[in-house]
This record gives sequence, C-alpha cells and structure tokens, in this order.
Amino acid sequence: MKKRIGVLTSGGDAPGMNAAVRAVARTAISKGMEVVGIKRGYNGLLNGDYFMMEKSSVSGIIKRGGTCLYTARCLEFVKPEGVLKGKERCEELGLDGIVVIGGDGSFRGAADLSAAGIPCIGIPGTIDNDIQCTEYTIGYDTALNTATEMIDKLRDTAQSHDRCSVVEVMGRKAGFIAVNVAIAVGAEAVITLERPYDLDAIAAKMIKVRNSKNGKHHFLIVVAEGVGQTENIARSLQEMTGIESRVTVLGHVQRGGSPTLRDRVIATEMGYHAVELLEQGIGNRIVGLKDGKVYDIDLQEGLAMKKPFIDDRYDIFYDTAY
Ligand code: F6P
Repeated sequence: MKKRIGVLTSGGDAPGMNAAVRAVARTAISKGMEVVGIKRGYNGLLNGDYFMMEKSSVSGIIKRGGTCLYTARCLEFVKPEGVLKGKERCEELGLDGIVVIGGDGSFRGAADLSAAGIPCIGIPGTIDNDIQCTEYTIGYDTALNTATEMIDKLRDTAQSHDRCSVVEVMGRKAGFIAVNVAIAVGAEAVITLERPYDLDAIAAKMIKVRNSKNGKHHFLIVVAEGVGQTENIARSLQEMTGIESRVTVLGHVQRGGSPTLRDRVIATEMGYHAVELLEQGIGNRIVGLKDGKVYDIDLQEGLAMKKPFIDDRYDIFYDTAY
C-alpha cells in the first residue's frame, strides 16, 4: 500500500512556506507517496478540511508569499482532547505522518501528536528566526529584506525633515530582525530585549552627532517589538534632544511578499529532508539548519534548547554606527 502523508502550515505565516509545501508535496509524490494538504493548521485536521494533493496543486506557488494551505493558531490542539481527536483523524485518513511547517507553538502540537503515535516532522517557518535548534527559519531573509527596504524609505523623509525616525520591527520576543536590519539600514541605535539599553546615552550621542562639524541632523532608531516601549522611547528621545521624532510600526508588511532566493532554496531543502525522514518511518524530529547544512533533531530536545543571542553582531552594529 502507498504511504500517505499530510502537510500543514500553522502559526504566523512566513514567506517561503509555499516553497516548503511545494517541496513536501512534489518530493513525496515523486517517491510514490500520497499527500494530503491540510488547511488552516491543526484546525483542518480536526474539522476535516483537507484535500488530496497532486504535483499540479503546488504549481506556481514557489514565488508567492503567504501559504496556499492557509494557517491558524489552533487553541483546541493545545488540550489533550484535541490531540487525541487529531490522532483519530490521522488514523481515519490513513496518514503515516505529518509535516508541520510553523513556529515553536506548532512544534509543541507536533510533539504531542508524535507522542500519541503519529510521526510528525517540524519545519521551522517564522520570520522571527527564534527557534532554538536551528540557525535559520523560513521567512527570515525575506522579512529582513522587506524591513530594510521600508526603513530605507523612512530614512529619506527623516533626512528631509531633520527628524528622528523610531521604527519598530517584528520578532516577537527576539531581537534578531532588529539587529540585522539596524546594520543594513545604517541606524544610529538599536534597542532589543536581549541587551540593556540606556536612553540617556542614546540621546547624548544624538546631540553630540548633531552638533559636530559635518554632523547629521536626522536619526534612525530601530526597536524590537518585544521591548514594548516604542512610543515611550520616541517621546523620551524627543524630550531629551529636542529633535522631532516619529514612530513607525512596520507590522505585518514584514510577513508578506515574494520569498527571496534564500528562503525558497532552504524551504525546498527542508521540505525534501522532511519527506525523506517520513519515508523511512522516522517521526518526532525537527528539521533545521546547523553549520549551514540541513539536519534533524529530536523534537523535545530541539524545543528545550536555548538560542544564543547574536551578541557579536550587536557589538559590530554599535562599533560601526555613527
Ligand atoms: O511570529 C511571527 C510574528 O509576526 C511575530 O513577529 C509577531 O509578534 C506575531 O507573529 C504577530 O502575530 P499576529 O499575526 O497574530 O498578530
């Protein structure tokens, strides 16, 4: 009998999820398996919202943002009864495994379902790059490029008005997007949860820079959303420096758009590897990137790891800032 696997996207969408879905579907079909596309994350599994995929089901999606399978955060699946119902649905459907593309919340569901006897493989898909056991998550590169493009535009108007632009970028509790984007846009300061910040020092630097010979009169401050203080930071800097400030929250625009080459290729490699694992009957794994190569790790072990912050890059930012 043919092996049959499911694929779903769960949690916040990320550019490149489509490339991963495509790789899972095409690889599995090429290997003689059947593929069930499950819609809206675990909700689709619980509510019977799925369809048989063919190679043509994923035609033309590699360059599209979002996810063709739709996505959701499923509260029912957090409860043991939800997981049990999910297992029963998998058995009714004859699924030999599921590929779950999402963030760590989605992986906890995959771990529970694996423990209940359904082999699951997690593929990291989130713009935040905050999954512990992988150097890279699908969507991160596209989000970095989108944020950079948007902030470059903000720089133009901040410069014209001699203003301070305080920009909030996404990342949930993590400052990976903030630090990298701050380097890329040549910001004057970056504020994240991971490192202490000193607004007096930032204000003093702004005043010194503005008053210096050939000094600049406009400023870009990148703030990670996890800090939760963007409005207050802008107000305080304006009060301390007298420089007019404006807040921009980039928001969900960072989650959209056509994925970059990096996101498309890594998503394809990860999707391919996930199917190889399920083909061998291996479940309860997260596919990740380690030393630039795709690898896999036990789900619980991967979730229990702690991701180090990019302290070296943070220091490079401040040493190369104005
Ligand atoms: O995890 C991706 C992310 O975009 C975070 O950066 C952000 O904190 C969160 O999702 C926003 O979630 P929602 O789309 O539910 O508002």
